[in-house]
Amino acid sequence: MKTPNFSILNFKESIFATMTKMAQKNAAINLSQGFPDFDGPPWLMDLVTEAMKSGHNQYAPTHGIVELRKTLAQTYKKIYGLEFDPMDEITITNGATEAIFCTIMALVNPADEVIVLEPFYDSYVATLNLARAKIIPVTLYRKEFRWRIEELTQAFSDKTKLIILNNPHNPTGKVFTREELETIIHLAEQYDAYILSDEVYEFLTFDGVAHLPIATLMKAIERTVTISSAGKTFGVTGWKIGWILACGAISHHIRMIHQFNTFSVCTPMQWGVNQALQRLDEYLPTFRRLYQEKRDFFCQGLIEASYLPIIPKGTYFTVAPIGQLTQLHDVGHCMELIERKKVAAIPPSVFYLKSQEGQEYIRFCFAKKAETLEKALQNLKSRL
Ligand SMILES: Cc1ncc(COP(=O)(O)O)c(C=O)c1O
Repeated sequence: MKTPNFSILNFKESIFATMTKMAQKNAAINLSQGFPDFDGPPWLMDLVTEAMKSGHNQYAPTHGIVELRKTLAQTYKKIYGLEFDPMDEITITNGATEAIFCTIMALVNPADEVIVLEPFYDSYVATLNLARAKIIPVTLYRKEFRWRIEELTQAFSDKTKLIILNNPHNPTGKVFTREELETIIHLAEQYDAYILSDEVYEFLTFDGVAHLPIATLMKAIERTVTISSAGKTFGVTGWKIGWILACGAISHHIRMIHQFNTFSVCTPMQWGVNQALQRLDEYLPTFRRLYQEKRDFFCQGLIEASYLPIIPKGTYFTVAPIGQLTQLHDVGHCMELIERKKVAAIPPSVFYLKSQEGQEYIRFCFAKKAETLEKALQNLKSRL
């Protein structure tokens, strides 16, 4: 048989699939993969059922149903003052993952340089490899997860096509400051690079910290592709409704890929999300409170279990250094946790290309029912 696309020859099963399988095999509590083990609000399910019963069951327009695009335009205007034309500048995708894929495929040519901040969400690097981009990693160093400015500046060159930002940041829970975002914009402008800003956790910020979309700052909107998704905000990661906000010219390029990739996205889910976004004002305070309580409960428990978690300002992840607990690296410690304490976490070294820092901590997801978190903490505190 002839070889497949050589870009995929080094692809391995994703760490999330591996850890989930290991968790199942060892009957461990799964705090590895980033999704809730409880349902989104019941009214949300009713909205989709209603949409199906009303006959919204055939292909949606390739750019997404107009109603949802209009609601998104109103939502981003109201919350952040961002203006996007629903006809030309908003595209509905099969989750943020498809949005990331289409953006990279639309903008990046083989050998173009793309700056990726590490630790990174794993689909960025996989897709960049498919696009045959030259990946330039820039490390966010513990414990504040900040870049060294010389390293960031040196990463940029005339060959830089794109920089990928994830804010709020998975896995670290970092929320980038205005100053950090402005640094990225200055460099992107200087080297005429695009910015892909993955903001799927935009509504999951804590302690009164406000999310600041990079597109709202300076003239970034001209070169930024903002990506988000309903999955995290409404606790329905399986619905896979994402969106891309970008100026008309960039959106056009991305739509050229999207039309031949998924073509269009699940119709009744789009109707459901359209209605749900209109209830955001009443929904968000309870949603944020719920997750902040989970964060506080879980991080306190981790401290009692002798971890020293870095308290996240956003996302539903917390990372905890392991040096005081074990001689093992992240992978070894995660394996030991699964086998001995029956708790699955994620070893972050797989989210780095350059630095070894990922070996020194692990990531837990706290988007879990109270009883799941309690049981996991009990196990972590035990002397097994
Ligand atoms: C940073 C980040 N981006 C994108 C995604 C994928 O989002 P979606 O499920 O909407 O494809 C995730 C999911 O965990 C994520 O953490």
